[in-house]
Amino acid sequence: MTLEVIILAAGKGTRMRSALPKVLHDLAGRPLIQHVLDTARELSPDRIHVVHGHGAELVREHLADAEDINWVEQAEQLGTGHAVSQALPDVNPDARVLVLYGDVPLIRAKTLRAMLDQSDDSHPALLTAELNNPSGYGRILRDGKGAVTAIVEEAEASQAERQIAEINTGFMACPAGRLQSWLEEIDNSNRQGEFYLTDVVGRAAQAGATVSAVGCQDSNEITGVNSQAELAQVERCFQARQAEALMEAGLGLRDPARFDLRGSLRFGEDCVFDINVVVSGEVRLGKGVSVGPNCQIIDSEIGDGVEIRANSVVEGVKIADQCAIGPFARLRPGTILESGARVGNFVETKNTTLGEDSKANHLAYVGDATVGQRVNIGAGVITCNYDGANKHPTVIEDDAFVGSNSALVAPVTVGKGATVGAGSAVSRDVPPGQLALTRAEQQVRSGWQRPKKEKKN
Ligand code: UD1
Ligand code: CA
Repeated sequence: MTLEVIILAAGKGTRMRSALPKVLHDLAGRPLIQHVLDTARELSPDRIHVVHGHGAELVREHLADAEDINWVEQAEQLGTGHAVSQALPDVNPDARVLVLYGDVPLIRAKTLRAMLDQSDDSHPALLTAELNNPSGYGRILRDGKGAVTAIVEEAEASQAERQIAEINTGFMACPAGRLQSWLEEIDNSNRQGEFYLTDVVGRAAQAGATVSAVGCQDSNEITGVNSQAELAQVERCFQARQAEALMEAGLGLRDPARFDLRGSLRFGEDCVFDINVVVSGEVRLGKGVSVGPNCQIIDSEIGDGVEIRANSVVEGVKIADQCAIGPFARLRPGTILESGARVGNFVETKNTTLGEDSKANHLAYVGDATVGQRVNIGAGVITCNYDGANKHPTVIEDDAFVGSNSALVAPVTVGKGATVGAGSAVSRDVPPGQLALTRAEQQVRSGWQRPKKEKKN
């Protein structure tokens, strides 16, 4: 039997109090619905249908490169049963349907597989859970023999039914053809005036189909996001899962509760992160990389033995082995550090290559520069790469020494082994091996007296 997934994502999410459609809210760097899509794809379905309504355009725009999605518009949100019926005309009647939710992102493929295993071409299966506080959920009704007979929504439930701890998670698997005919039989004559997908279960039982209920042990998997507080809760849960998996794979985390990964991280042996490190995009670390507290690392490739010290921000960079960065360094996109290079505190680099064993240790801006090997960039050095209209390159050749507080006005080249005296503004090329100096000569006035404070009577 083929599998087709229907993801319900038409709800407005009023309680988020946000202009953004609920399913586009960010969980660990990706929209909620992206997590659900990724999980769906793990099951290799033949098709994925997304029922969308509120913010339809925006949702489609965000997922524009997902070519495997069949978009189904539900103009009015008339209930979960109605939502599923909107998609069914596009579903092969011989397929099995799996219903997922765009705002329930932590469900695991493994759990869904266990449920799918219990449904076949004539029987539906439900994912259920036992909750200490089942309020708000649909309750599972069973007969004397324990067979599932129906689901009663909280709004319709009697006092006695509300005592039932076994709830409907919403996840359901059902043969498409039968789902279609059972959905045709339901109506919206209930307290909420909605077409309840859950009414299908009663229809199925009446038609003599066994409804399997598969228990979900981890209640996090079925947590839906309806508010900012729930979004934060789901984020922490997701982060905890990731941290656990990373530590399992050998990553050292001083405190897994103070680490966030919003993308993917690959790493070699013996990498250790201090607290409050945030990793985004695609990051790859070599062996023995240590990251100090409060660092942000985005889309970067970092070699063996690199030390990123406290409070550094590193984005879009390529760092070779044994480099040292920070504390308080900012490496912007296009920065390449060759092995053994060092970038110290309050140094900003952008679109710059720093050659082997070169260093910019304090208070510098190095942008659009190609720096050779063993170069020393002194404290306070600025590459003036921008003339107000265009950017220009700076070249600093091997073994050059740029004295403190110098301005290199690009385009300009400091030749191999050349020296720029401290406090110079260099606007013409410095020939190899020469000293360039632009500061005014020091004057010494002998006999000069400092003004004295006048005595007041
Ligand atoms: C539903 C179940 C309930 C279950 C609970 C688990 C029904 C009738 N009830 O209740 O048994 O315990 O989920 O969380 O199914 N949606 C649409 N279009 C609609 C209506 C809803 O796309 O017309 C989407 C919503 O965006 C949401 C999801 O379906 O993501 C669930 O809808 P909601 O109305 O919140 O159902 P619950 O009341 O939570
Ligand atoms: Ca809900």
